[in-house]
Amino acid sequence: MSSKDKVLELLEKNKNTYISGEAIASSLGISRNAIWKAINELRKQGYVIEAANKKGYRLGTDNDIISAQGILSYMDKAPDNSLIHIYDTLDSTNKTAKEMAMSTVCHGSLIIARSQTIGKGRGTHSFYSPEGGIYMSVILSPDKLPTLEPDVITAYTGVTVSTAIECLSNLSPKIKPINDLFIDGHKICGILTESGIEFDSGMVQWIVVGIGINFDSDISQFPEDLQQIVGSLFKKGQAPISKNQLIAEIYSRLLDWSHIDKNQILEKFNERLI
Ligand code: BTN
Repeated sequence: MSSKDKVLELLEKNKNTYISGEAIASSLGISRNAIWKAINELRKQGYVIEAANKKGYRLGTDNDIISAQGILSYMDKAPDNSLIHIYDTLDSTNKTAKEMAMSTVCHGSLIIARSQTIGKGRGTHSFYSPEGGIYMSVILSPDKLPTLEPDVITAYTGVTVSTAIECLSNLSPKIKPINDLFIDGHKICGILTESGIEFDSGMVQWIVVGIGINFDSDISQFPEDLQQIVGSLFKKGQAPISKNQLIAEIYSRLLDWSHIDKNQILEKFNERLI
């Protein structure tokens, strides 16, 4: 990991708390000069890092830049850092995830883009994906899942994303089949699950779960035909939680299918139906 990433990890873990240069240096085993350089690089990337005499450096809670370090700082059971791939922009995170899965199926790989140019929706639909949203795809390996029934996987994903939102806020999304999440009559999230199947044997080789959430998106800037249909979880700049926090909550739940009970999942799905 680069010095910049190490410093970011420490600042994210101690968000809103000052850490002295000396403490950073001894905890990371890097020089004060390397810290100073890392802080400057992070500032160039858009992080607002306060520096105070005798107190050190602090990352304020209003920094909401998606990063692997930010996501991992919210996870108790942290997966391998190398599973997380973050891009400023991609055509589609599902497309990148599928390409990755076709070469090696690495269960739990997470692909995130801060915006997408050709976000894919179900069927022939597209998914409008400007900055302000969360666009994430997770690769799942069939041998790590207790079931390959599409209904259950779909239901589990919808329930997972809704529950994660509910756990971190006072919002309670409803599900419109197949798997759109709604709040107050507006679509705030779309989910697209795709898989690769060996034609001869019918064996599922990989599954990609793609989730698009309007997090603190400026809906007034969306195409006019969408403005009546879609909504955003939070108003722009007014989110009480960070994108990293919500991603971590969803990702942790998607990584752990051990507790899955088919009937319970379908029951929870049905309870949330619009
Ligand atoms: C739908 O509403 O029809 C499903 C939309 C799914 C959008 C997500 S955003 C992340 C992932 N990448 C994509 O290209 N699509 C999914």
